[in-house]
Amino acid sequence: MSQLKPGSRLRGGTYFINKVLGQGSFGITYMAEHTILHKTVAIKEFFMKELNSRAEDGSITGMTDGSLSFKYAEKFRKEAANLARMKHPNIVEVTDAFEDNGTCYYVMDFVEGENLNDYIRSHRLSENEAVSIARDIANALQYMHEQHRMLHLDLKPGNVMRRRSDGHIFLIDFGLSKHYSNGGQPETSTTIGLGTPGYAPIEQGNQAKDGDFRPTIDIYALGATLFKLLTGNTPPNASEIAFKKDYIQNELTSKGMSTRVTVVVSNAMAADPSMRTATARDFISQLSSLIAPVKQEETQTFVNQESTRTSVKKEEPRTSVKKEETHPKNNNDDNSGCWGGCWNIILLFALPLIFAIIASNVDSCSSNNAVYDEAADSTSAECVVEDSCAAVDTCAAVICTDTIDFLEEAHPADSAYYPADSAY
Ligand SMILES: Nc1ncnc2c1ncn2[C@@H]1O[C@H](COP(=O)(O)OP(=O)(O)O)[C@@H](O)[C@H]1O
Ligand SMILES: [Mg+2]
Repeated sequence: MSQLKPGSRLRGGTYFINKVLGQGSFGITYMAEHTILHKTVAIKEFFMKELNSRAEDGSITGMTDGSLSFKYAEKFRKEAANLARMKHPNIVEVTDAFEDNGTCYYVMDFVEGENLNDYIRSHRLSENEAVSIARDIANALQYMHEQHRMLHLDLKPGNVMRRRSDGHIFLIDFGLSKHYSNGGQPETSTTIGLGTPGYAPIEQGNQAKDGDFRPTIDIYALGATLFKLLTGNTPPNASEIAFKKDYIQNELTSKGMSTRVTVVVSNAMAADPSMRTATARDFISQLSSLIAPVKQEETQTFVNQESTRTSVKKEEPRTSVKKEETHPKNNNDDNSGCWGGCWNIILLFALPLIFAIIASNVDSCSSNNAVYDEAADSTSAECVVEDSCAAVDTCAAVICTDTIDFLEEAHPADSAYYPADSAY
């Protein structure tokens, strides 16, 4: 027997075991009841599958002083303490820790829902939903990295819970987590966990020495997690992908994913850590361009002027990177400068012509463009260069294409990721 039986009691009867939720190499997770608070909780028990066994009375054997189990139990206690210090809406909350049965336990809020592996088995996620989940996970990572200098080291869909009632995301299972130093070294001497194949980058398998013990390890796993959410497939081992040129791009494109999300995943899963998205913050800013909400005033303007525009803008959210681009020949500011300088000439010579145009009521296209430009930020300034009477759909398509071109230029999804002479 390795698992506690349903009906077992822990901590002097405070907790009542309902059932087993999962068993990994280092622990068993149970669903349990807090008998005083009448609250469902999740309890993680330290139990090394390969080294420990359990007696009939529930107590654990193989935990003698100095044994490997004993050493890892100490790490497990630290995991509980680390988790208890973290207060973030996307990280599961630890509420208690105790010793019983000759081993250690910690208690978490129970998340009524399922882990992402189970969730995607029964749901086909839209790109938008997958991206939104990845952003929530990235928020949790950013908090861990920036506030606690801690790496998760085992991020994967099975270690992320989704609450059924509202889709809220919680990061769980900090069993391999570890602090890192400024110099990119683990702060304790015990070896770092190898993570899970498909989600762990090459340097994690190599024990991430020489300054490679950085947030980029979790970023790789984050990209791989998003890849799984988008495709339903676990990525091949990092060392395999490194030799499969354009693998990520091809897989995502064949599943109909946008070029933009493909670029974000490829950046996060670059084999060479120095080419990879460096921080969770950077990952979030790349993602936010994909899920940027439409500004209220834009929506209202478009609804007033032409209802189809609203939906176009929502489907093709813009990236902020485009703001840096200018089109001097065609941009509106240049044109307005000309109009100011030529005002007298217009008054004298062109006024009759303008009246004629207004009277004939043929200028609806430029009127549309003016509205579009007024409502949009600089990202969509290209729309004013459209000289046909094209609908706004065409403008949106132009923006989208330009943005993709820009991203592709900025982050070429080609052999640069996997240089022939690189160690990968
Ligand atoms: N707080 C929780 N609330 C609800 N279910 C949980 C919770 N923590 C873990 N689980 C479930 O138990 C499974 C195993 O837990 P996890 O902490 O990942 O341990 P391990 O991977 O070591 O078995 C998870 O995939 C999830 O389905
Ligand atoms: Mg797990």
